[in-house]
Order: sequence, then structure tokens, then C-alpha cells
Amino acid sequence: MPKPRRFDQSRRTLLRITPPMLAAFFVATCSRRFANSALPVASKDTPNSDISSTRVLSPTPTCGDEAVTPAQTAGPFFTPDSPERTSLLEPGMVGTRIVVTGQVLSTSCTPMANALVDFWHTNDQGDYDNQGYTLRGHQFTDSEGRYRLETIVPGFYPGRTRHFHVKVQAANQPVLTTQLYFPEEPLNQRDGLFRPELLMAVRDEGNGPQALFDFVLAMS
Ligand SMILES: [Fe+2]
Repeated sequence: MPKPRRFDQSRRTLLRITPPMLAAFFVATCSRRFANSALPVASKDTPNSDISSTRVLSPTPTCGDEAVTPAQTAGPFFTPDSPERTSLLEPGMVGTRIVVTGQVLSTSCTPMANALVDFWHTNDQGDYDNQGYTLRGHQFTDSEGRYRLETIVPGFYPGRTRHFHVKVQAANQPVLTTQLYFPEEPLNQRDGLFRPELLMAVRDEGNGPQALFDFVLAMS
């Protein structure tokens, strides 16, 4: 199956939408798989490797409750045509490794196969690479609508709490541009863009933080 065109607001992708999967699968995938954990804000003098976790509840919308993932601004640092890759890690990259996983779903819990998911974020010092594609990359969801990203925990910069930027586009659907946040970051409450619906569920069972977020898209 050919890959869709990358984010092009004027040219929507031409992919088929995967038919609904088994009901049991929906129940399993739409349920919360683990509670959030916290990533306390680190200053630029505090390595992200010091980050630890505690469990909190997530208000993130789930499929089946008619809620959709809220859109947010892309900000000024989006670069089109990022490389296709599921790992943004590069040799010598400083920062705490994190794995972000989840699904792209419709409000009726249908997995969106081959949906485009494009992440970009700062390094652990809060700086974007605006010249190249460091910590930028896109991928396509699998047959179950799943994505998996290996990267580092981003830093933060003046006026913003810690966040990922992401664009998500299912076949023949509009692009959702949004941001994902880390639970229990003190700066969340001072960031005017922060929305609790966009909190990832994060846990750390000793092998580094694992984040989960399911995107729920309204189908046009
Ligand atoms: Fe940003």
C-alpha cells in the first residue's frame, strides 16, 4: 500500500480507512492501561535523569465518550518534511530516554491504520533544532492504529512547560495539530497553553519513563 502524502493541508491523504476491529480489542485498547506518573520539572541545572515518578489520574479523553483530542497551536518551530523514523535518538544525545506509545482512534474506537504521526520537540535544554531535523520525525500507525516513538524527555523554555508537539492525520481527514504534556509538572499551571486533556499517562518501572497517549479524532 503506498504511503500517504505528508502533512499537506490542501491535499488530503488518499488512504483507505481500516475497518473496525474486534469488540474485545476495542475494550482493551480504549481502557486506561496504567495511571499517570509525575515528571517533576527540572531546571537547566538539573539533569533530566533525576526525574522520578508518582501516580496520578489522567483526565485525557478516551474513545467512546464523544470527546476528541483538543487541537493546539503548532507554534513557530514546526519544520515540514521531517524524516520517517520511530526513534529520534541519535548517538551522543543527552537526556532521559522515553518511549511514547498509543493509538490513533476515532470517537467510536476504530483504530486508524496508516495514520500519519509527526513529532517534534526540544532537546533536554529546551532548544529546538530549527536548522535540521534533530528530535523531529514522522511515522505511520500500524494495522491496529498504533504508534511507538523512542526519544528523550524534552526540556522546557521560557513561558512553556515541558511538552511534545505533534501532528496527526488519518486517511482523508484533516490534520490534528496538538501538544502532549507531562503530569505533575509545576510549570503546567503557569503555562497558558496547558490543557489537562492532553496529559500523557507516564510510568517508570525502572527502565525509564514510558508514556501513553491515545489520539481520538473526529471523522469528517
Ligand atoms: Fe514548543
